[in-house]
Order: sequence, then structure tokens, then C-alpha cells
Amino acid sequence: MLNEKIEAAFNGQINAEMYSAYLYLSMSAYFAATGMAGFANWMRVQAQEEMVHAMKFFDHISERGGRVALKAIDGPPTEWDSPVAAFEHVYEHERKVTGLINGLVDLAIEEKDHASRSFLQWFVDEQVEEEDSASTVLDRLKLIGDSGNGLFMMDRELGQRVFTPPAEPKT
Ligand code: FEO
Repeated sequence: MLNEKIEAAFNGQINAEMYSAYLYLSMSAYFAATGMAGFANWMRVQAQEEMVHAMKFFDHISERGGRVALKAIDGPPTEWDSPVAAFEHVYEHERKVTGLINGLVDLAIEEKDHASRSFLQWFVDEQVEEEDSASTVLDRLKLIGDSGNGLFMMDRELGQRVFTPPAEPKT
């Protein structure tokens, strides 16, 4: 059985993950509108991954006898000044999410909820990857600068990212 504090915090995290999906979908639309189909694809896949994150919390709450309570999702920004600005935002956002996950781990330890502590470990590891992939793209974009050719090549590369559904989808 999930205690109330953890249940409320996990419901909050569903909202944060869904907001992340919204944010990246909005970035996908921004890139699509600026003719960068590969960047748009990368963001769309990122948004799909965020929905998987949200559903992991959704399922964990249900499995533990808790109650999922969905809240309104804030509207994300719709414009960025440049691809660099968008990826700076992604990196900053992911660091914020890492802070949220760490806060949940602290709470699970405080509440002696070992099942939640174990569940959260996947997210601790995932955030290392999330920050790394955002900062890798950001660093490369900074190197490319205003080179149209560089951006074109990178757009082609990011266009190859494919969404891989989780191995054991919950029903
Ligand atoms: Fe769900 Fe990008 O962290």
C-alpha cells in the first residue's frame, strides 16, 4: 500500500513527465515549422519517451493500491530563438527533472518505502542518460555555430532516432 505522501508526490511526477512530453512536442512543432524535420523527429521521440515515464508512475501507483489523480498540464512555450536555445532549454529542463527524481528518492527513504525506492532507481539511471543526450546535442550545436551545412548534417542524423517501446508494456 502506498502512503499518502508518496502517492501525492508520484501523482505530481506524472504531471511533470506529461509536461515534459508537452514541452518536447512543442519543440517538435517548432522545428517542423522551421524546416528541420530531423530535429522535429528527435523531439517527437523524446516526447514519446516522456509519456512512457509518466505511465511508469501511473502503473506503479495503481499496482501499489494507490489512486492516480491527473492534474492540468501547463502550456509549454511555443517559440525558441534558435536550435541552441531549444537544446539549452532541454538540458536545463532535464536537470530540473533530475532534481525532482532525487527529491522522490529522498522521500521514499524518509518514508521507508523500499518498493518505491527500488522503482525509482530506473529513473535515477535514466536521468543520467537524459542529461547526457541533451548536453551532447547542445555541445555539437555550439560547435556547428552558423554553419548551414553542419546543421543540415545534424538534422539528417537526428532524423534517424527511433522510438523503442518499453520491453514489458503494462496493460
Ligand atoms: Fe522523464 Fe526527460 O525525463
